[in-house]
Amino acid sequence: MDFSFSEEQLMIRDAARDFARNELLPGVIERDTLQQFPAEQVKKMGELGFLGMMVDPKYGGGGMDTISYVLVMEELSKIDASCSVIVSVNNSLVCYGLEKYGTEEQKQNYLTKLATGEKLGAFCLSEPEAGSDATSQRTTAIDKGDHYILNGTKNWITNGGTADYYLVIAQTDKEKKHRGINAFIVEKGWEGFEIGPKEDKLGIRGSDTHSLIFNDVKVPKENRIGEDGFGFTFAMKTLSGGRIGIAAQALGIASGAYELARAYSKVRKAFGTEICNHQAIAFKLADMLTQIEASRHLVMKAAWDKDQGNNYDLSGAMAKLHASQTAMDVTVEAVQIHGGNGYVKEYHVERLMRDAKITQIYEGTSEIQKIVISRGLLKE
Ligand code: CAA
Repeated sequence: MDFSFSEEQLMIRDAARDFARNELLPGVIERDTLQQFPAEQVKKMGELGFLGMMVDPKYGGGGMDTISYVLVMEELSKIDASCSVIVSVNNSLVCYGLEKYGTEEQKQNYLTKLATGEKLGAFCLSEPEAGSDATSQRTTAIDKGDHYILNGTKNWITNGGTADYYLVIAQTDKEKKHRGINAFIVEKGWEGFEIGPKEDKLGIRGSDTHSLIFNDVKVPKENRIGEDGFGFTFAMKTLSGGRIGIAAQALGIASGAYELARAYSKVRKAFGTEICNHQAIAFKLADMLTQIEASRHLVMKAAWDKDQGNNYDLSGAMAKLHASQTAMDVTVEAVQIHGGNGYVKEYHVERLMRDAKITQIYEGTSEIQKIVISRGLLKE
């Protein structure tokens, strides 16, 4: 068993680390406070190839493996999880979904622009009453021959206001339940497509989350992804990979908070010595690092499974379940180690703690991951 990374993987990791320190760190507190979308940074991430990392170069992507992708996700998330979720949605959900299941025409028209960062994508599954229970789609797409008519509302959509292309999941035949669901590519600006107000969130406040309203939106049939009725499977398969990206995000948030807490404990003095010399603090750091390393192994295993062509439904769900719990536990402890300073924005750990929570919610709550894992293990 080889735990080492290749030279290429280390190069892209280091590029992401430098980018995060030089381009994301300055302004991260301000963007969080003002809920400012990192437009300039997203443009640069496109130029660096972070937005279509695993896409075949013939469609404008980087042709990299999933290990490289999770290394980049970790580095970006150590500093700015609002930026890394943009990377994750564009790579894992939108680009992957189109490359794997789209037609050649859809790839030429949409994927090539998404992979280079010229355009940004959003993945629209969740609804007011269909977050976890994804088969209960209320958004409808009525088949009108050469086009569909889309009606309904989507909620909590990442890149909701800033995306150009939206992958929208909708019910075409209620009788058929999940087999009557389809996925469509919808462009911003199409008649009847309205962007709702921006959400005011606890964390990842720099990312742009909106509800979307579809009012008799005409979608050409060639914008349906896959065969009729493939939409639910499309969403599930795409989300399985998405969960690896979010697990890597959680790992990054935890690592970022741990690194700050470790450094702080070596300079902050109390009772006549640096606080890292008190066992109460040293044991916390030991627990934090152990949890992080366990998460890292799960994240890398899931990414490796995907690269090997193995099934990664379970390993991705386990990685997300563990890494998101780690992100919560570690960030809470990082704030504790910082004491009063931990509660203040300039020390960064309070933001990481707020950002950590969403990793237990989006792309399937922790409870959903347990459903996926328990159903999978019973099948074995
Ligand atoms: N791959 C392929 N097919 C799959 C699958 C997978 N991973 N998982 C399920 N399916 C198929 C099943 O085989 C079944 O098909 P058949 O009956 O035809 O064989 C069908 O889908 C229905 O499966 P279930 O009976 O298991 O469905 P369920 O209603 O019990 O739900 C669930 C399963 C796992 C709970 C699913 O609903 C789920 O994952 N929910 C969470 C959705 C989610 O992650 N939402 C997040 C929104 S996206 C987001 O957050 C993006 C963002 O902006 C950051």
